[in-house]
Amino acid sequence: MNKPLKIGIAGLGTVGAGTFKLLQTNSRVISERCGRSMEVTAVSASQRKKNRGIDLDGVTWFNDGAELAAQADVDVVVEVIGGAEGSARKTVEAALKRKLHVVTANKALLANHGVSLAKMAEEGGVSLAYEAAVAGGVPIIKALRESLASNSINRITGILNGTCNYILSTMRTTGRDFEDVLKEAQALGYAEADPTFDVDGVDAAHKLAILTSVAFGTTIDINAVHVEGIRNISTLDINYADEFGYRIKLLGLAERLPERTGGGIVQRVYPCLIRPEHPLASVEGVFNAVVAEGDFVGKSVYEGRGAGAGPTASAIVSDIMDIAAGRHAPVFGVPTGFLKALPSVPVERHVGEYYVRLLVVDRPGVFADIASAFRDEDVSMESVLQRGRNVNVNVNVVIITHETQESNLVRALKRLQANAALVEPPHMMRIENIEGA
Ligand code: HSE
Repeated sequence: MNKPLKIGIAGLGTVGAGTFKLLQTNSRVISERCGRSMEVTAVSASQRKKNRGIDLDGVTWFNDGAELAAQADVDVVVEVIGGAEGSARKTVEAALKRKLHVVTANKALLANHGVSLAKMAEEGGVSLAYEAAVAGGVPIIKALRESLASNSINRITGILNGTCNYILSTMRTTGRDFEDVLKEAQALGYAEADPTFDVDGVDAAHKLAILTSVAFGTTIDINAVHVEGIRNISTLDINYADEFGYRIKLLGLAERLPERTGGGIVQRVYPCLIRPEHPLASVEGVFNAVVAEGDFVGKSVYEGRGAGAGPTASAIVSDIMDIAAGRHAPVFGVPTGFLKALPSVPVERHVGEYYVRLLVVDRPGVFADIASAFRDEDVSMESVLQRGRNVNVNVNVVIITHETQESNLVRALKRLQANAALVEPPHMMRIENIEGA
């Protein structure tokens, strides 16, 4: 057998400690499967004394990741510090500069600097592996980059943030409100250090930007992702959606549009309504899932735990095993020189059905005003729901539209905002259908 692969773990939080534990617990099967044993020889973390439930005797400590990456006697640096800049970025750059392999779970770093880091890895002839950065334990990077490599991918649709999926699922099943369930998700350790990244859709956007690059061979452009979070979703919307036969999910969607329709890349993260038969409708709780649609393979679905020590460590160690076995793939599927910068498609060009909820004063003529605003912008209604009759008291009017272009609906809603009967800004969500579901 080859000599052991020496690993340095930069960051000993939940994921770093979980990675150490997995390497130890399954050391035999790991070395048998990749033909090489592994040894964690260096770690870095700010608190040395903390009890992490792992035995770090004989392991060299460094004060921070960048120091570890610059000085440690290792073959691979595992970066699990997190964040697009600062210590995480310095650590990865220092490691790549020394031509060390890097394994990272850091989606923010890759979404912002992925292409330049991939170039460094390419120039050094080393791996920059990141299975753990997207959907935790779900092997979606490898599936897209290797197993589906012969396909032209048409579309990717995913539940990419476990915290949001947990919040939306729990709100639906318990009727509890958003803030209350968010606190629970934080206590369970699902949320990012800054939970606004989860609930505002930023974490899912980072993951989608990476998936887009791998699926379509494009340069990563986080600024091209249209992002909306779940802060404004109420149990009211969840219940109305249910009445119309839909579930609300925070989805990430990426699609390459054909040239005949103007071309470009769609990248969007937003809460939307899906039918129960959609492959992502039954994905509940902290689970993540991705549907990939390829021209030859058709639709394939990948589901699993998207957060937590075990699933994330599982993805990290599988990347380390590839390095140990000498398996190497271009970082984003093709050499960086082949990645294309395609124009992004603005959300106003989206065509689909919509859910609209309007809180209005219940008085004669209001409904006619709503109908004429929709008529004037050529938006056709499919279903309308209004309950109760309480003159001059507020009432919700919920509308499902037929297929329309988003810019038309936005203009109709703008007209309505000028109407004194509207009590608050309209609530609008897209309805996402998937072929065959
Ligand atoms: N905060 C992330 C989530 C964890 O909720 O999915 C892993 O990225």
